[in-house]
Amino acid sequence: MHRALAQAGVASRRAAELLVAEGRVTVNGEVAHVGQVVQSTDRLEVDGSPVNPEPIYTYMLNKPMGMVSTAYDPEGRPTVLDPMPDDVRLYPVGRLDIDTTGLLLITNDGDLAHQLMHPSSKVPKTYEAMVAGRVSAAGVRQLREGIELEDGMTQPAVVEILDRQAPGCTWLSIEITEGRNRQVRRMCDVIEHPVRKLARTRYGGLGLGKLRRGEFRSLASTEITKLEQIAGVTR
Ligand code: URA
Repeated sequence: MHRALAQAGVASRRAAELLVAEGRVTVNGEVAHVGQVVQSTDRLEVDGSPVNPEPIYTYMLNKPMGMVSTAYDPEGRPTVLDPMPDDVRLYPVGRLDIDTTGLLLITNDGDLAHQLMHPSSKVPKTYEAMVAGRVSAAGVRQLREGIELEDGMTQPAVVEILDRQAPGCTWLSIEITEGRNRQVRRMCDVIEHPVRKLARTRYGGLGLGKLRRGEFRSLASTEITKLEQIAGVTR
């Protein structure tokens, strides 16, 4: 609540707290109380005047190698927020490893991000992986059916061998609906074809299109609607 008011530019966080304590703030027409949790869809008013919520921004970044997917890195490495506009507080929707490239959503829409990352949403994510060695049909079947990892069996995956040459390696397309830490790398390690290169090409039905490595763009409203449907966000 205080954060919502402060973010909307009403006052500092401290002053916002005072406004609430003085009973001058309403949420959906009811007097707010200190510590009340509000959603981005709630209607806030101060002294009867509506508070305009912070505008929502959702971007797609084609992440290059070498960037960490956190807002701040104690080791001082480049982060995925470095290329992004800095007028609002943004954060990445999930993570890509430092050496994974490709599609990463970055937003200040907490509800959408939370729902997309929730395991029950089962958002499909497609990766192109260049793995060491020649992958047999049996290897592909294992990846498809599920791999025993130390944190449990993986859900069925959609896996195809891509028609792309790389000496001593195989290119795979792997679609998973979970988002466990280093999941694709760990799955490929188990079948003894370690990942040499990894890129995410699709997320929740959205693709990179012509977006080049290192570039970002705002999502179109049709793309946001698609994500909201997949994540089950209702506004
Ligand atoms: N799986 C991985 O192993 N790494 C990523 O960055 C994403 C999925």
